[in-house]
Amino acid sequence: MSLLSVCDIEENVIEILEIAKNFKEGKMEKKPLEGKTLAMIFEKSSTRTRVSFEVGMYQLGGQGLFLSSNDLQMGRGEPISDTAKVLSRFVDGIMIRAKNHKDVEELAKEADIPVINGLTDLEHPCQALADMLTIQEHLGDFKENKLTYVGDGNNVCNSLLLICACLGMDMSVACPKGYEPNPEIVAKAEEIANKNDSKITITDNLKTALKDSTAIYTDVWVSMGDETEAAQRQIDLKPYQVNNDLMKLAKENAIFMHCLPAIRGEEVATEVIDGPQSVIFDEAENRLHAQKAVMYYYLKD
Ligand code: CP
Ligand code: NVA
Repeated sequence: MSLLSVCDIEENVIEILEIAKNFKEGKMEKKPLEGKTLAMIFEKSSTRTRVSFEVGMYQLGGQGLFLSSNDLQMGRGEPISDTAKVLSRFVDGIMIRAKNHKDVEELAKEADIPVINGLTDLEHPCQALADMLTIQEHLGDFKENKLTYVGDGNNVCNSLLLICACLGMDMSVACPKGYEPNPEIVAKAEEIANKNDSKITITDNLKTALKDSTAIYTDVWVSMGDETEAAQRQIDLKPYQVNNDLMKLAKENAIFMHCLPAIRGEEVATEVIDGPQSVIFDEAENRLHAQKAVMYYYLKD
């Protein structure tokens, strides 16, 4: 059992969020993962994911091992399948941040232990869980709210589409043509949303997307791996900067969300990210509680 996509927890999102809430409120047993180990492979930079998993594992009584792909034999060409089989003999779970989602799928297929996606080019499910915990705390019932993602339809956007669908929350994406989220993810999200009576809208029209929105979300215009397209992206995405004028298109007092790291003056204006509607540091803190819930869910016997 692995967590590669939000689809893998379609039926369990509520349960994992409940565990996260209980960890945050100190209601869970102490050190439930005593003696367990988690290999944490990073092919890309990270602050929040690394620290939340490492500190989280410590707080759960276990041990996280930070493994940079630069130092692993995998970085020199050792097959993913061999790495999966070897790590399965040493540790109880693997968290991986990878360039290619397909590599993570292969790792999970070959490993005998759970694999957790700590971000790929396609999805960021652990971030999405922390974001939903944040929405629940600030806004309450998912079905009474609407999330609008503005900007590049990237990995973070893909996982948000799926998780909103699972929770029956309406979500729209406002992005320029050519920057839409992955079409297969959109189709899957629509299928799940239909079952849960919610709506997904993908449009280049900011007004349509932001109407009645209670949470506005954005992410960087240039994700890790997109660096060669940086100049063109700055031009194409400029009209989608989240600033005070854009926030006025949403409901009054809508919250502002960002997975971080952010670039002030690009995807978001300082007035918004550092303003009263911003909940970015609650989101960051909730990575810890959500990641503890994920590790508990996947690694507890
Ligand atoms: N939001 C997020 O995943 O942050 P890091 O890249 O710092 O882990
Ligand atoms: N979309 C960003 C998220 C970073 C947490 C990236 O993939 O670089």
